[in-house]
Amino acid sequence: MAERTRLVIAGGTVIDATGERPADVLVGRDGTIAAVGEGLAAGAGGADRILDARGCIVSPGLVDLHVHLRQPGGEQAETVESGSRAAVLGGFCAVVAMPNTNPSIDSAALVREVQELGRASLCQVEVAGAITVDRAGERLAPMAEMAALGVRLFTDDGAGVQDTAVMRRALEYASDLGVRLAQHCEVDSLAAGGHMHEGEWSSRLGIPGIPAEAEEIMVMRDVALSRLTGAPVHFQHLSTAGSVAIVEAARRSGLAVTAEVAPHHFTLTDESCASYDSRFKVNPPLRPADDVAAVRTALARGSLDAIATDHAPHTADAKDRAFEEAPPGMLGLETALALALTELDLAPAEVLALLSWQPARIAGIDGAHGGPVAAGRPANLCVFDPSAIWTPDDSGGASRSRNTPYVGRRLRGRVRHTLVAGEALVVDGEAQR
Ligand code: DOR
Repeated sequence: MAERTRLVIAGGTVIDATGERPADVLVGRDGTIAAVGEGLAAGAGGADRILDARGCIVSPGLVDLHVHLRQPGGEQAETVESGSRAAVLGGFCAVVAMPNTNPSIDSAALVREVQELGRASLCQVEVAGAITVDRAGERLAPMAEMAALGVRLFTDDGAGVQDTAVMRRALEYASDLGVRLAQHCEVDSLAAGGHMHEGEWSSRLGIPGIPAEAEEIMVMRDVALSRLTGAPVHFQHLSTAGSVAIVEAARRSGLAVTAEVAPHHFTLTDESCASYDSRFKVNPPLRPADDVAAVRTALARGSLDAIATDHAPHTADAKDRAFEEAPPGMLGLETALALALTELDLAPAEVLALLSWQPARIAGIDGAHGGPVAAGRPANLCVFDPSAIWTPDDSGGASRSRNTPYVGRRLRGRVRHTLVAGEALVVDGEAQR
Protein backbone atom coordinates (compact mmCIF):
# COMPACT_ATOMS: atom_id res chain seq x y z
CA MET A 1 0.00 0.00 0.00
CA ALA A 2 1.21 3.47 -0.84
CA GLU A 3 1.42 5.83 2.08
CA ARG A 4 -2.01 7.25 2.69
CA THR A 5 -2.61 10.95 2.82
CA ARG A 6 -5.42 12.91 4.37
CA LEU A 7 -7.38 14.22 1.44
CA VAL A 8 -10.48 16.17 0.57
CA ILE A 9 -12.72 15.35 -2.37
CA ALA A 10 -13.92 18.85 -3.04
CA GLY A 11 -16.86 20.45 -4.77
CA GLY A 12 -18.85 17.39 -5.84
CA THR A 13 -22.40 16.18 -5.33
CA VAL A 14 -22.62 13.20 -3.02
CA ILE A 15 -25.13 10.54 -4.07
CA ASP A 16 -25.74 7.42 -2.00
CA ALA A 17 -28.75 5.33 -1.00
CA THR A 18 -29.84 8.05 1.44
CA GLY A 19 -30.08 10.80 -1.18
CA GLU A 20 -28.19 13.59 -2.86
CA ARG A 21 -26.43 16.68 -1.50
CA PRO A 22 -23.54 18.98 -2.37
CA ALA A 23 -20.68 18.10 -0.04
CA ASP A 24 -16.94 17.75 0.31
CA VAL A 25 -15.65 14.45 1.65
CA LEU A 26 -12.67 14.38 4.00
CA VAL A 27 -10.82 11.08 3.98
CA GLY A 28 -8.58 10.27 6.92
CA ARG A 29 -5.24 8.48 6.96
CA ASP A 30 -6.90 5.40 8.42
CA GLY A 31 -8.80 4.80 5.16
CA THR A 32 -12.18 5.87 6.49
CA ILE A 33 -14.32 8.91 5.82
CA ALA A 34 -13.52 11.52 8.49
CA ALA A 35 -16.19 14.10 7.62
CA VAL A 36 -18.78 14.99 5.00
CA GLY A 37 -20.06 18.51 4.59
CA GLU A 38 -19.78 21.78 2.78
CA GLY A 39 -16.67 23.91 3.00
CA LEU A 40 -14.29 21.20 4.19
CA ALA A 41 -11.80 22.14 1.47
CA ALA A 42 -11.70 25.79 2.52
CA GLY A 43 -9.46 25.31 5.52
CA ALA A 44 -8.71 21.84 4.17
CA GLY A 45 -8.82 20.69 7.80
CA GLY A 46 -5.18 19.73 7.67
CA ALA A 47 -5.65 17.79 4.42
CA ASP A 48 -2.50 17.01 2.45
CA ARG A 49 -4.26 16.81 -0.86
CA ILE A 50 -7.37 18.06 -2.65
CA LEU A 51 -9.07 16.02 -5.35
CA ASP A 52 -11.20 18.21 -7.58
CA ALA A 53 -14.76 16.90 -7.86
CA ARG A 54 -16.45 19.97 -9.33
CA GLY A 55 -19.14 18.89 -11.77
CA CYS A 56 -18.79 15.33 -10.47
CA ILE A 57 -20.86 12.84 -8.51
CA VAL A 58 -19.19 11.33 -5.45
CA SER A 59 -20.69 7.94 -4.67
CA PRO A 60 -19.94 4.69 -2.87
CA GLY A 61 -17.57 2.66 -5.07
CA LEU A 62 -19.08 0.37 -7.66
CA VAL A 63 -19.36 -3.37 -7.04
CA ASP A 64 -19.23 -5.90 -9.87
CA LEU A 65 -20.80 -9.28 -9.15
CA HIS A 66 -19.36 -10.91 -12.24
CA VAL A 67 -15.81 -10.68 -13.59
CA HIS A 68 -13.38 -13.15 -15.12
CA LEU A 69 -9.88 -12.42 -13.88
CA ARG A 70 -8.43 -15.56 -15.51
CA GLN A 71 -6.09 -16.59 -12.71
CA PRO A 72 -5.00 -19.26 -12.37
CA GLY A 73 -4.32 -20.52 -15.86
CA GLY A 74 -5.36 -17.71 -18.21
CA GLU A 75 -2.69 -15.13 -17.46
CA GLN A 76 -2.14 -14.18 -21.10
CA ALA A 77 -5.70 -12.83 -21.19
CA GLU A 78 -5.87 -11.20 -17.72
CA THR A 79 -4.47 -11.36 -14.23
CA VAL A 80 -6.05 -10.41 -10.95
CA GLU A 81 -3.74 -7.40 -11.00
CA SER A 82 -4.57 -6.21 -14.54
CA GLY A 83 -8.28 -6.89 -14.03
CA SER A 84 -8.27 -4.98 -10.76
CA ARG A 85 -6.64 -2.02 -12.53
CA ALA A 86 -9.42 -2.08 -15.14
CA ALA A 87 -11.88 -2.27 -12.24
CA VAL A 88 -10.71 0.85 -10.44
CA LEU A 89 -10.47 2.75 -13.75
CA GLY A 90 -14.13 1.83 -14.21
CA GLY A 91 -15.04 3.06 -10.72
CA PHE A 92 -15.26 -0.40 -9.13
CA CYS A 93 -13.89 -0.86 -5.62
CA ALA A 94 -14.90 -4.51 -5.34
CA VAL A 95 -15.38 -7.32 -7.83
CA VAL A 96 -16.46 -10.94 -7.58
CA ALA A 97 -14.07 -13.22 -9.51
CA MET A 98 -15.67 -16.16 -11.30
CA PRO A 99 -14.30 -19.66 -10.72
CA ASN A 100 -14.09 -20.83 -14.37
CA THR A 101 -10.32 -20.67 -14.27
CA ASN A 102 -7.84 -23.41 -15.05
CA PRO A 103 -7.98 -25.24 -12.70
CA SER A 104 -11.45 -24.19 -11.50
CA ILE A 105 -11.74 -22.52 -8.12
CA ASP A 106 -13.39 -25.49 -6.45
CA SER A 107 -11.31 -26.02 -3.30
CA ALA A 108 -10.02 -24.14 -0.28
CA ALA A 109 -6.50 -24.16 -1.74
CA LEU A 110 -7.59 -22.45 -4.94
CA VAL A 111 -9.71 -19.93 -3.04
CA ARG A 112 -6.68 -19.07 -0.87
CA GLU A 113 -4.50 -18.65 -3.94
CA VAL A 114 -6.85 -16.16 -5.59
CA GLN A 115 -7.59 -14.35 -2.32
CA GLU A 116 -3.84 -13.87 -1.94
CA LEU A 117 -3.59 -12.40 -5.44
CA GLY A 118 -6.59 -10.22 -4.61
CA ARG A 119 -4.93 -8.79 -1.52
CA ALA A 120 -1.99 -7.64 -3.65
CA SER A 121 -4.30 -6.08 -6.27
CA LEU A 122 -5.88 -2.65 -6.51
CA CYS A 123 -9.44 -3.39 -5.42
CA GLN A 124 -11.25 -5.82 -3.15
CA VAL A 125 -11.46 -9.18 -4.89
CA GLU A 126 -14.17 -11.50 -3.63
CA VAL A 127 -13.77 -15.05 -4.85
CA ALA A 128 -16.77 -17.02 -6.09
CA GLY A 129 -16.37 -20.73 -5.52
CA ALA A 130 -17.56 -23.44 -7.88
CA ILE A 131 -20.75 -25.28 -6.96
CA THR A 132 -19.48 -28.59 -8.33
CA VAL A 133 -16.04 -30.19 -8.59
CA ASP A 134 -14.28 -28.81 -11.68
CA ARG A 135 -17.61 -27.18 -12.60
CA ALA A 136 -18.52 -30.53 -14.13
CA GLY A 137 -22.02 -30.53 -12.63
CA GLU A 138 -21.69 -33.92 -10.97
CA ARG A 139 -20.34 -33.82 -7.41
CA LEU A 140 -20.72 -30.91 -5.02
CA ALA A 141 -17.51 -28.98 -4.39
CA PRO A 142 -16.40 -28.59 -0.73
CA MET A 143 -18.52 -25.49 -0.26
CA ALA A 144 -18.20 -25.48 3.54
CA GLU A 145 -14.39 -25.29 3.34
CA MET A 146 -14.62 -22.43 0.88
CA ALA A 147 -17.32 -20.67 2.91
CA ALA A 148 -15.05 -20.92 5.96
CA LEU A 149 -12.55 -18.78 4.02
CA GLY A 150 -15.19 -16.13 3.43
CA VAL A 151 -16.63 -17.23 0.08
CA ARG A 152 -20.22 -15.99 -0.02
CA LEU A 153 -21.22 -16.66 -3.63
CA PHE A 154 -20.99 -19.97 -5.48
CA THR A 155 -21.51 -20.58 -9.18
CA ASP A 156 -20.39 -22.87 -12.00
CA ASP A 157 -20.45 -19.79 -14.27
CA GLY A 158 -19.56 -20.48 -17.86
CA ALA A 159 -21.99 -23.37 -17.48
CA GLY A 160 -25.24 -23.95 -15.64
CA VAL A 161 -25.72 -26.83 -13.22
CA GLN A 162 -27.58 -29.20 -15.53
CA ASP A 163 -28.73 -31.89 -13.10
CA THR A 164 -31.80 -30.78 -11.17
CA ALA A 165 -31.10 -33.04 -8.19
CA VAL A 166 -27.53 -31.76 -7.91
CA MET A 167 -28.82 -28.18 -7.97
CA ARG A 168 -31.41 -28.99 -5.32
CA ARG A 169 -28.76 -30.47 -3.04
CA ALA A 170 -26.48 -27.52 -3.64
CA LEU A 171 -29.27 -25.11 -2.66
CA GLU A 172 -30.02 -27.04 0.53
CA TYR A 173 -26.34 -27.07 1.39
CA ALA A 174 -25.96 -23.36 0.61
CA SER A 175 -28.93 -22.58 2.81
CA ASP A 176 -27.32 -24.37 5.76
CA LEU A 177 -24.06 -22.53 5.17
CA GLY A 178 -25.73 -19.13 4.79
CA VAL A 179 -24.19 -18.56 1.33
CA ARG A 180 -25.83 -17.75 -1.98
CA LEU A 181 -25.85 -19.72 -5.21
CA ALA A 182 -25.64 -17.89 -8.52
CA GLN A 183 -26.65 -19.58 -11.72
CA HIS A 184 -25.50 -19.21 -15.31
CA CYS A 185 -28.78 -20.31 -16.86
CA GLU A 186 -28.24 -22.41 -19.94
CA VAL A 187 -29.59 -25.84 -20.80
CA ASP A 188 -26.63 -27.49 -22.54
CA SER A 189 -28.68 -29.85 -24.66
CA LEU A 190 -30.52 -26.87 -26.23
CA ALA A 191 -27.49 -24.60 -26.52
CA ALA A 192 -25.03 -27.18 -27.85
CA GLY A 193 -23.41 -26.17 -31.13
CA GLY A 194 -24.86 -22.63 -31.03
CA HIS A 195 -22.76 -19.49 -31.39
CA MET A 196 -25.32 -16.68 -31.38
CA HIS A 197 -29.00 -16.12 -30.62
CA GLU A 198 -31.28 -18.42 -32.61
CA GLY A 199 -33.57 -16.26 -34.71
CA GLU A 200 -33.82 -14.23 -37.85
CA TRP A 201 -30.18 -13.13 -37.84
CA SER A 202 -28.73 -16.57 -37.16
CA SER A 203 -30.78 -17.90 -40.11
CA ARG A 204 -29.64 -15.10 -42.38
CA LEU A 205 -26.00 -15.48 -41.38
CA GLY A 206 -25.98 -19.26 -41.38
CA ILE A 207 -24.54 -19.37 -37.86
CA PRO A 208 -26.03 -22.06 -35.58
CA GLY A 209 -28.14 -20.46 -32.85
CA ILE A 210 -28.94 -20.78 -29.16
CA PRO A 211 -32.67 -20.35 -28.46
CA ALA A 212 -33.91 -18.00 -25.75
CA GLU A 213 -35.50 -21.06 -24.15
CA ALA A 214 -32.06 -22.52 -23.34
CA GLU A 215 -31.85 -19.76 -20.74
CA GLU A 216 -35.49 -19.45 -19.77
CA ILE A 217 -36.06 -23.12 -18.98
CA MET A 218 -33.25 -23.08 -16.43
CA VAL A 219 -34.50 -19.82 -14.90
CA MET A 220 -37.92 -21.43 -14.54
CA ARG A 221 -36.47 -24.59 -13.03
CA ASP A 222 -34.36 -22.70 -10.51
CA VAL A 223 -37.28 -20.51 -9.47
CA ALA A 224 -39.08 -23.77 -8.71
CA LEU A 225 -36.05 -25.07 -6.81
CA SER A 226 -35.85 -21.87 -4.80
CA ARG A 227 -39.48 -22.44 -3.83
CA LEU A 228 -38.80 -26.09 -2.97
CA THR A 229 -35.72 -25.44 -0.85
CA GLY A 230 -36.43 -21.95 0.49
CA ALA A 231 -32.90 -20.98 -0.60
CA PRO A 232 -32.15 -17.74 -2.39
CA VAL A 233 -30.97 -17.93 -6.00
CA HIS A 234 -29.11 -15.23 -7.91
CA PHE A 235 -29.55 -15.27 -11.69
CA GLN A 236 -26.51 -14.21 -13.67
CA HIS A 237 -26.48 -12.21 -16.91
CA LEU A 238 -30.17 -12.55 -17.81
CA SER A 239 -30.74 -11.69 -21.43
CA THR A 240 -34.29 -12.40 -22.58
CA ALA A 241 -37.75 -10.91 -22.11
CA GLY A 242 -38.95 -14.33 -20.94
CA SER A 243 -36.27 -14.64 -18.24
CA VAL A 244 -37.04 -11.18 -16.93
CA ALA A 245 -40.78 -11.96 -16.80
CA ILE A 246 -40.16 -15.21 -14.90
CA VAL A 247 -37.98 -13.42 -12.34
CA GLU A 248 -40.52 -10.63 -11.91
CA ALA A 249 -43.29 -13.16 -11.29
CA ALA A 250 -41.12 -15.08 -8.82
CA ARG A 251 -40.40 -11.92 -6.89
CA ARG A 252 -44.07 -10.99 -6.80
CA SER A 253 -44.76 -14.38 -5.26
CA GLY A 254 -42.25 -13.58 -2.52
CA LEU A 255 -39.35 -15.81 -3.52
CA ALA A 256 -35.81 -14.74 -2.62
CA VAL A 257 -34.53 -14.46 -6.16
CA THR A 258 -32.17 -11.75 -7.35
CA ALA A 259 -30.90 -11.03 -10.84
CA GLU A 260 -28.19 -9.20 -12.72
CA VAL A 261 -27.92 -8.08 -16.33
CA ALA A 262 -24.79 -7.24 -18.31
CA PRO A 263 -24.33 -3.92 -20.14
CA HIS A 264 -24.09 -5.64 -23.53
CA HIS A 265 -27.58 -7.05 -23.08
CA PHE A 266 -29.07 -3.57 -22.85
CA THR A 267 -26.86 -1.92 -25.47
CA LEU A 268 -26.29 -4.38 -28.36
CA THR A 269 -28.48 -6.69 -30.45
CA ASP A 270 -27.84 -9.91 -32.35
CA GLU A 271 -27.74 -7.90 -35.55
CA SER A 272 -24.16 -6.91 -34.55
CA CYS A 273 -23.13 -10.49 -35.37
CA ALA A 274 -23.73 -9.69 -39.06
CA SER A 275 -20.19 -8.28 -39.01
CA TYR A 276 -18.92 -11.79 -38.19
CA ASP A 277 -16.73 -9.90 -35.71
CA SER A 278 -16.09 -12.22 -32.77
CA ARG A 279 -16.04 -9.28 -30.35
CA PHE A 280 -19.85 -9.56 -30.55
CA LYS A 281 -19.79 -13.21 -29.57
CA VAL A 282 -20.80 -13.64 -25.95
CA ASN A 283 -22.67 -16.09 -23.83
CA PRO A 284 -25.61 -15.70 -23.25
CA PRO A 285 -25.66 -14.31 -26.79
CA LEU A 286 -26.74 -10.85 -27.85
CA ARG A 287 -30.49 -10.91 -28.34
CA PRO A 288 -33.01 -9.18 -30.64
CA ALA A 289 -34.30 -5.66 -29.98
CA ASP A 290 -37.44 -6.87 -28.16
CA ASP A 291 -35.34 -8.63 -25.54
CA VAL A 292 -33.07 -5.61 -25.17
CA ALA A 293 -36.15 -3.43 -24.67
CA ALA A 294 -37.53 -5.83 -22.03
CA VAL A 295 -34.24 -5.76 -20.10
CA ARG A 296 -34.23 -1.95 -20.19
CA THR A 297 -37.85 -1.77 -19.04
CA ALA A 298 -37.14 -4.15 -16.16
CA LEU A 299 -34.16 -2.03 -15.10
CA ALA A 300 -36.34 1.07 -15.21
CA ARG A 301 -39.08 -0.66 -13.19
CA GLY A 302 -36.57 -1.64 -10.53
CA SER A 303 -37.29 -5.34 -10.88
CA LEU A 304 -33.66 -6.32 -11.47
CA ASP A 305 -31.04 -5.93 -8.78
CA ALA A 306 -27.73 -5.30 -10.45
CA ILE A 307 -25.75 -4.46 -13.52
CA ALA A 308 -22.76 -6.84 -13.60
CA THR A 309 -20.20 -6.64 -16.37
CA ASP A 310 -19.35 -10.29 -17.12
CA HIS A 311 -15.92 -8.81 -17.96
CA ALA A 312 -14.50 -11.68 -20.04
CA PRO A 313 -11.04 -11.01 -21.46
CA HIS A 314 -9.72 -13.20 -24.26
CA THR A 315 -6.38 -12.95 -26.06
CA ALA A 316 -6.22 -11.50 -29.57
CA ASP A 317 -5.13 -14.93 -30.82
CA ALA A 318 -8.30 -16.51 -29.48
CA LYS A 319 -10.63 -13.73 -30.64
CA ASP A 320 -8.99 -13.48 -34.09
CA ARG A 321 -10.39 -16.88 -34.98
CA ALA A 322 -13.52 -17.21 -37.13
CA PHE A 323 -16.78 -16.35 -35.31
CA GLU A 324 -17.69 -19.98 -34.73
CA GLU A 325 -14.22 -20.89 -33.45
CA ALA A 326 -13.68 -17.90 -31.15
CA PRO A 327 -14.50 -18.06 -27.42
CA PRO A 328 -17.46 -16.03 -26.14
CA GLY A 329 -16.92 -12.96 -23.99
CA MET A 330 -16.21 -9.24 -24.00
CA LEU A 331 -14.49 -6.72 -21.74
CA GLY A 332 -16.75 -4.69 -19.49
CA LEU A 333 -15.15 -3.07 -16.47
CA GLU A 334 -14.10 0.27 -17.96
CA THR A 335 -17.29 0.92 -19.94
CA ALA A 336 -20.13 -0.29 -17.66
CA LEU A 337 -20.85 2.94 -15.78
CA ALA A 338 -20.77 5.06 -18.95
CA LEU A 339 -22.99 2.62 -20.85
CA ALA A 340 -25.55 2.68 -18.05
CA LEU A 341 -25.49 6.48 -17.82
CA THR A 342 -25.63 6.89 -21.60
CA GLU A 343 -28.12 4.23 -22.58
CA LEU A 344 -30.57 3.87 -19.71
CA ASP A 345 -33.27 6.36 -19.02
CA LEU A 346 -32.38 6.40 -15.33
CA ALA A 347 -31.29 9.05 -12.85
CA PRO A 348 -27.69 8.71 -11.60
CA ALA A 349 -28.96 7.48 -8.21
CA GLU A 350 -30.88 4.67 -9.92
CA VAL A 351 -27.80 3.69 -11.94
CA LEU A 352 -25.74 3.69 -8.74
CA ALA A 353 -28.25 1.48 -6.95
CA LEU A 354 -27.70 -1.10 -9.72
CA LEU A 355 -23.93 -0.72 -9.76
CA SER A 356 -23.13 -0.17 -6.11
CA TRP A 357 -25.37 -0.71 -3.11
CA GLN A 358 -27.65 -3.44 -4.45
CA PRO A 359 -24.82 -5.67 -5.75
CA ALA A 360 -22.86 -4.99 -2.53
CA ARG A 361 -25.73 -6.54 -0.57
CA ILE A 362 -25.94 -9.56 -2.88
CA ALA A 363 -22.18 -10.12 -2.55
CA GLY A 364 -22.52 -9.82 1.24
CA ILE A 365 -19.94 -7.03 1.40
CA ASP A 366 -22.25 -4.14 2.28
CA GLY A 367 -20.36 -3.58 5.52
CA ALA A 368 -17.53 -2.04 3.51
CA HIS A 369 -19.08 -1.24 0.13
CA GLY A 370 -22.14 0.55 -1.18
CA GLY A 371 -23.02 2.12 2.18
CA PRO A 372 -23.75 5.77 2.85
CA VAL A 373 -21.00 8.31 2.25
CA ALA A 374 -20.74 9.20 5.92
CA ALA A 375 -18.15 9.72 8.64
CA GLY A 376 -16.74 6.46 9.95
CA ARG A 377 -17.44 4.45 6.81
CA PRO A 378 -14.60 2.88 4.79
CA ALA A 379 -13.58 5.30 2.02
CA ASN A 380 -14.42 3.13 -0.98
CA LEU A 381 -15.52 5.86 -3.32
CA CYS A 382 -16.13 6.56 -6.99
CA VAL A 383 -15.99 10.12 -8.32
CA PHE A 384 -17.29 10.52 -11.85
CA ASP A 385 -18.24 13.27 -14.25
CA PRO A 386 -21.74 12.39 -15.49
CA SER A 387 -21.50 14.69 -18.50
CA ALA A 388 -17.99 13.92 -19.81
CA ILE A 389 -18.12 12.57 -23.35
CA TRP A 390 -15.56 9.99 -24.46
CA THR A 391 -15.03 7.20 -26.93
CA PRO A 392 -13.40 3.84 -26.11
CA ASP A 393 -10.46 2.96 -28.33
CA ASP A 394 -9.28 -0.53 -29.26
CA SER A 395 -6.50 -0.68 -26.67
CA GLY A 396 -8.63 -2.58 -24.17
CA GLY A 397 -7.65 -0.07 -21.47
CA ALA A 398 -5.87 -1.64 -18.51
CA SER A 399 -6.93 -5.17 -19.44
CA ARG A 400 -4.37 -7.54 -20.94
CA SER A 401 -6.97 -8.18 -23.63
CA ARG A 402 -8.61 -5.88 -26.14
CA ASN A 403 -11.93 -7.55 -26.92
CA THR A 404 -14.27 -4.62 -26.45
CA PRO A 405 -17.22 -4.24 -28.82
CA TYR A 406 -17.61 -0.54 -28.01
CA VAL A 407 -14.69 0.94 -29.97
CA GLY A 408 -15.76 4.28 -31.41
CA ARG A 409 -19.07 4.44 -29.54
CA ARG A 410 -19.86 7.84 -28.04
CA LEU A 411 -20.34 7.48 -24.28
CA ARG A 412 -21.36 9.92 -21.58
CA GLY A 413 -20.01 9.71 -18.03
CA ARG A 414 -16.43 9.08 -17.04
CA VAL A 415 -14.65 8.08 -13.87
CA ARG A 416 -12.37 10.79 -12.54
CA HIS A 417 -11.13 9.41 -9.21
CA THR A 418 -11.46 6.05 -7.44
CA LEU A 419 -10.51 5.54 -3.80
CA VAL A 420 -10.13 2.10 -2.29
CA ALA A 421 -9.88 2.00 1.51
CA GLY A 422 -8.93 5.67 1.42
CA GLU A 423 -6.18 5.31 -1.14
CA ALA A 424 -6.59 7.37 -4.32
CA LEU A 425 -5.87 4.68 -6.92
CA VAL A 426 -7.32 6.59 -9.86
CA VAL A 427 -6.76 10.33 -10.02
CA ASP A 428 -7.96 12.41 -12.96
CA GLY A 429 -8.70 9.21 -14.89
CA GLU A 430 -5.19 7.79 -14.47
CA ALA A 431 -4.30 4.70 -12.43
CA GLN A 432 -1.77 5.61 -9.77
CA ARG A 433 -0.04 2.22 -9.75
O1 DOR B 1 -19.32 -14.82 -22.78
C1 DOR B 1 -18.97 -15.46 -21.80
N1 DOR B 1 -17.69 -15.54 -21.43
N2 DOR B 1 -19.90 -16.12 -21.08
C2 DOR B 1 -19.56 -16.97 -20.11
O2 DOR B 1 -20.42 -17.56 -19.53
C3 DOR B 1 -18.15 -17.24 -19.79
C4 DOR B 1 -17.31 -16.11 -20.19
C5 DOR B 1 -15.84 -16.43 -20.19
O3 DOR B 1 -15.36 -17.02 -19.24
O4 DOR B 1 -15.17 -16.07 -21.16
